[in-house]
Amino acid sequence: MNDHCSEPLPAMARINPHRDLLLECDSAGKSMLEFHRRLPAYMPTPLLNLPTVAARLGVGSVHLKDESNRLGLPAFKILGASWAVARALARRFGGDMLPDFELLQPELRGKPILISATDGNHGRAVAHVARTLGLPARIFLPAGAAPARSRALREEGAEVRIVNGDYDDAVARAARFAEKCGGLLVQDTVVDGQSDVPSDIVHGYLTLFLEIDAARTGQPAFDLVLVQIGVGSLAATAVQHYRFRGMAQQPALIGVEPIHAASTLAACDSGRIVRLPQGPRTIMAGLECGTVCELAWPQIRDGFDGFLAVHDERTKMAMRCLHEAGVVSGESGAAGLAGLMELVEGSGGELARHVGLGANSNVLMLSTEGATDPEGYGAAIQKGD
Ligand SMILES: Cc1ncc(COP(=O)(O)O)c(C=O)c1O
Repeated sequence: MNDHCSEPLPAMARINPHRDLLLECDSAGKSMLEFHRRLPAYMPTPLLNLPTVAARLGVGSVHLKDESNRLGLPAFKILGASWAVARALARRFGGDMLPDFELLQPELRGKPILISATDGNHGRAVAHVARTLGLPARIFLPAGAAPARSRALREEGAEVRIVNGDYDDAVARAARFAEKCGGLLVQDTVVDGQSDVPSDIVHGYLTLFLEIDAARTGQPAFDLVLVQIGVGSLAATAVQHYRFRGMAQQPALIGVEPIHAASTLAACDSGRIVRLPQGPRTIMAGLECGTVCELAWPQIRDGFDGFLAVHDERTKMAMRCLHEAGVVSGESGAAGLAGLMELVEGSGGELARHVGLGANSNVLMLSTEGATDPEGYGAAIQKGD
């Protein structure tokens, strides 16, 4: 388990000065969980206890929610995409009943087309939902996306377009196309002020946290939850769940981003959303977003205790550590552990003290994907020198 770098890895850590200690969120209910339970492939994903990882990092316990097989896909994103599409179709066809996908398919007769931009996982989830409903899908990817990611989209039956630009450019292209053809844009970030779909995506992810609570009934509450941040929708879900007014014991929340795409940390520094220029690529493709979503940011700003921006090498160490513990966690999936390593043995010491991290702390991480890029995964888990 000793996997150390001789040089300190570049990283950034921030205590969030904007944190609102009085924040209390309303409940979004549990209808998304009921909807997901009705999907034929539904099973709660495992919540794993990793005592060897906890011992190595000197904390009380480490639990990991393993999303490497969620409704038949290797990432958690289908929770948001399926719920948001169900809700959008209900709105479009004038009902508030949430349809079972199986009943809905014959009614739709192949319309509308589902459209999205993606770094990989969200678009794959949208394509999968489209296929389940017998709908066409067109998915826009930023330039330089791993070939395995576009292959997976095509295997789901989606038409793929590679955009000459970054993730934000791909989002703009997807939105233009949706407007032109009257399709349904299933984007996990706000575009042109449209917040219904991203808001439903945030709610869809609540199923993951409700499952965690169910698996932990009667056990001590978590003291710290590490959440990866791309556009910030998952982080907004974490705020809605853990800052809910009825939550007896609230954990500290720390966001983890790649060092070259740390748009939330940048927003924390400037007190407002900034669009980062495209930097060097990161292996954490799902987190490579230059702009935090305008719907998510106010919630993250008020609800998170701090932010960490980690280096790819730190994430590879985390992937290897999880691999040794028997968990397959992809680049974006292992970022939570990379953040915990940074808190314990890297440059996050002050932030660790701020959130009271210590030998009795119960820590939760979300392994949000499995080996979504098998080639990249294989290379990363090879021991570095
Ligand atoms: C595997 C994985 N983890 C985490 C995230 C971050 O989620 P969000 O973009 O909602 O911040 C993503 C986003 O695509 C992802 O693919």
